[in-house]
Amino acid sequence: MEFYIPGRKAPVIYESCLSSTNTVLKKLGQEGAKSGTVLVAGRQSGGRGRLGRDFQSPPEGLYLSMLLRPDCSGEQCLSITPLAAVAACRAISLCSAARPGIKWPNDLVLGGKKLCGILTEMSMDEQGRPELVLGIGINVNNGSFPYELGGSACSLYSETGELTDKEQLGKELIFALDELYARWLEDERSILPQYRSLCISCGRDVLVSQNGASREGRALEVGEDFSLLVEFIDGTRENIRFGEVSVRGLEGYV
Ligand code: BTN
Repeated sequence: MEFYIPGRKAPVIYESCLSSTNTVLKKLGQEGAKSGTVLVAGRQSGGRGRLGRDFQSPPEGLYLSMLLRPDCSGEQCLSITPLAAVAACRAISLCSAARPGIKWPNDLVLGGKKLCGILTEMSMDEQGRPELVLGIGINVNNGSFPYELGGSACSLYSETGELTDKEQLGKELIFALDELYARWLEDERSILPQYRSLCISCGRDVLVSQNGASREGRALEVGEDFSLLVEFIDGTRENIRFGEVSVRGLEGYV
């Protein structure tokens, strides 16, 4: 695959197989890679997901990480992950007939199943400035999924019946990330309206799992800080900022 993007200030590197684009790009960052550097892999042998999970990464998917060094506090960086989710929705809509939604905070879903996962990892450089590796994995042309996913995953192919050009999707994703990140640098809330309109969790019954305990409630709205306001069945309301928030759909909680 070829990811030459004329005029782009930071490189886009393609490798046919890597352990994990997040792990390798983090190392490149420590060795001085430029902010904006992108690493794409044809497949991953050790793809990583949130909460220490594996992320199955066969050749049919798209796996990409971007290195970012914004000049801000670690707290301010929290809205970069939602930015990646909006960018992935935009790229997918441009390259296929699929119109995914965002399950708070950053899974893309289609037909009630997970299409794409995002893993943001942040560390501090020697000057104490945040360094982020934003990793995105999209199930593109996958025709089948591992048994252990229990029917909760989908791909663009499984939902639309059409194959998608991974190279074009990768380029559109990089364009969208570059554009939304440039806007984010001007105004951290610039993507909030788009995020709110794409977020499918609001108005739905949810299961909030935090620190080993689960509570049922209804998601009401996405706050100014991208937290999720949930009303629990005992009537209490809370802004959720971390943990798993499963949405009750046609096939149980996804
Ligand atoms: C999740 O759903 O839990 C997050 C999955 C994130 C997967 C992507 S694929 C590219 C990058 N490299 C990794 O090892 N993980 C992320």
